Amino acid sequence: MRYRADADDLLRWYDSHARALPWRVGPDARAAGTRPDPYRVWLSEVMLQQTTVAAVRSYFERFTTLWPTVGDLAAAPDADVMGEWAGLGYYARARNLLKCARVVASEHDGVFPQSREGLMRLPGIGPYTAAAIAAIAFDRPETVVDGNVERVMARLFDIHTPLPAAKPELTRAAAGLTPDDRPGDYAQAVMDLGATICTPRAPACGICPWMQACEARAAGTAADLPRKAPKKAKPVRLGYAYVARRSDGAYLLEDRPAHGLLGGMLGWPGSAWDDDPDHAPPLQADWQMIDAEARHTFTHFHLRLRVLVAEVPTGSTPATGAFRARDDFRPAHLPTLMRKVFDLAQGAFETAPASEYSPEDRS
Ligand code: ADE
Repeated sequence: MRYRADADDLLRWYDSHARALPWRVGPDARAAGTRPDPYRVWLSEVMLQQTTVAAVRSYFERFTTLWPTVGDLAAAPDADVMGEWAGLGYYARARNLLKCARVVASEHDGVFPQSREGLMRLPGIGPYTAAAIAAIAFDRPETVVDGNVERVMARLFDIHTPLPAAKPELTRAAAGLTPDDRPGDYAQAVMDLGATICTPRAPACGICPWMQACEARAAGTAADLPRKAPKKAKPVRLGYAYVARRSDGAYLLEDRPAHGLLGGMLGWPGSAWDDDPDHAPPLQADWQMIDAEARHTFTHFHLRLRVLVAEVPTGSTPATGAFRARDDFRPAHLPTLMRKVFDLAQGAFETAPASEYSPEDRS
């Protein structure tokens, strides 16, 4: 008879193999009575939605240095927070992060609710994030199911139903294992197992604490699970971005509308991203099209942005956006797509003064 997977086996493994992460209180410190700071747990979980640990680390360090408490974050100007989030993607998270910080600061005296239900009433906190915070910050026996956990459960129970249809089945499997003792450590232990041993390709089954219980290992199917329904091909959309540099070095930028893609972020004026070649520049100038595109993949489509550049005199009045002195704008505060546009434009400006510039110069 095969062993049943047991939370204790995983917790014993976690006690000696837990990853050291900047937002984590490790198993030794927890056992010694250190409680995690709910603000840091919440911030890390919001950052980790759809984003890897490797990408999140430096952002987490920077945010917690700039804003050590939820009250500090709540008091920060919107533009500073959106700027610091630039590059992390899914910008609705940053808008909701600020909303949530302000609700916690003003309506909860700066103290996060502890229950899953209470947490879910806050902006930007859905069922997954609420369960993760309740478990990790408050040691509530909530079941936390992210992509790592789905993979671990699909293998442990040799579940062949393709994702996303398999989600309820995988969640039930995960719930059946969640312990009442040390649920916070356990939630993080399953994630660590998925990230370091039960990896998408070439899982290291030989050193897995759940090896004996794993049905997919016994069946030889581990590396093929979880199965996934084929993804729809993403359409390609085309748009235009305008980079105007004034003779005093200022750039024409705009704050994007709060809602929609890259909402609330800094960007270059441009067309709608709808393939329509009929669009007006933000001001009259000798616009030159660069012979390279800024490409970026969003959740539902690939975007190709054609970039136009122009050097313009002082006194130019744009129809949209506003000129910002070069010292007053940090390229690092641009979302990745807009940063790519800036880098291409810089290349073009440096290759030749715009007055002499022609697209052939770059080939
Ligand atoms: N992914 C989502 N939440 C995580 C966490 N707390 N630790 C590691 N990876 C995670």
